[in-house]
Amino acid sequence: MTAAPPAPVRAIPRPPAPSGPLAQLHRDIRRCTACPLAATRRHACPGEGPERAAVMVVGEAPGYDEDRAGRPFVGRAGQLLTELMEGAGLSRSRVYIANTVRCLPPKTGGSAEPPQEAVEACRMFLEREIALVRPAVLVALGRAALRALVSPKLAISDAHGRAYTRDGRWVYPMYHPSYLLRNGNDPALRRAFEDDMAGLGRLLRVHAATLRPRWSLEAIAWLYRSAPTPHTPNAHSRATTWHVLERFALPQVDGATITWDIRGVHEMFRTPSAIQELLRRYVGRPVRLDLTNSSLRRGVRATILAGTT
Ligand code: URA
Repeated sequence: MTAAPPAPVRAIPRPPAPSGPLAQLHRDIRRCTACPLAATRRHACPGEGPERAAVMVVGEAPGYDEDRAGRPFVGRAGQLLTELMEGAGLSRSRVYIANTVRCLPPKTGGSAEPPQEAVEACRMFLEREIALVRPAVLVALGRAALRALVSPKLAISDAHGRAYTRDGRWVYPMYHPSYLLRNGNDPALRRAFEDDMAGLGRLLRVHAATLRPRWSLEAIAWLYRSAPTPHTPNAHSRATTWHVLERFALPQVDGATITWDIRGVHEMFRTPSAIQELLRRYVGRPVRLDLTNSSLRRGVRATILAGTT
């Protein structure tokens, strides 16, 4: 029996062209000849999407379809990414989509992981794009983006679905959709993708709800593992409010020292950089985290630093 041919790739609507500095950046990317990939590409692929977006997805590098179209994520991986985002209620039209590397890398031994030389040459484009789009959350899709945005020491299998920060911005690693495609849309793997997408929704809500010092019940509801669903606490009496606050250990501030029993906090926020960012927001001042080996499982201590955020 012969395998069914893959379904044709559906056209992904082109978002409006950018203007001003973002348009200039896109021209710079299209004309770039800073690394050897420029000689073999058809089209370089700048990012695309709204000029200001709360979420910016960063992939690895263009594939065959992207190289032909000069646009990111318009092939099969792009279609799957769009489907997974939209399944989680996040419309592609509200997301800015870019790549770590902007030109098609040569296939080396079946892996299209972009060469380090290209990653370095493109780094400045990614930084400029982030500075212009100013997303609250950078979604790092796959290993190359994780390495470029967070750390080369992290493995995507450990980091996916957890929150990190970089220069005060959230970074949320996820598996690359090509991985799911390579594994034949394996149901368990697909569920992991869908869970990570749901986690992105939680991160966006925590981001919005913790922007001000001290936290609302809504922030608590999204930050803690088994918190009541948002809005229900507010619908009840003051007594319910106190009940909720007693159940969920909030950071305790004593002079310049903060202690926080984080056992109830959702696992996705239990990374050093996320905890540090949450505490910075809680007290409205920069903090230094004093971590011991077990503190991310139990409780953390931090010191409030002089100065403002
Ligand atoms: N894979 C990527 O990482 N980026 C694309 O644009 C397409 C496939």
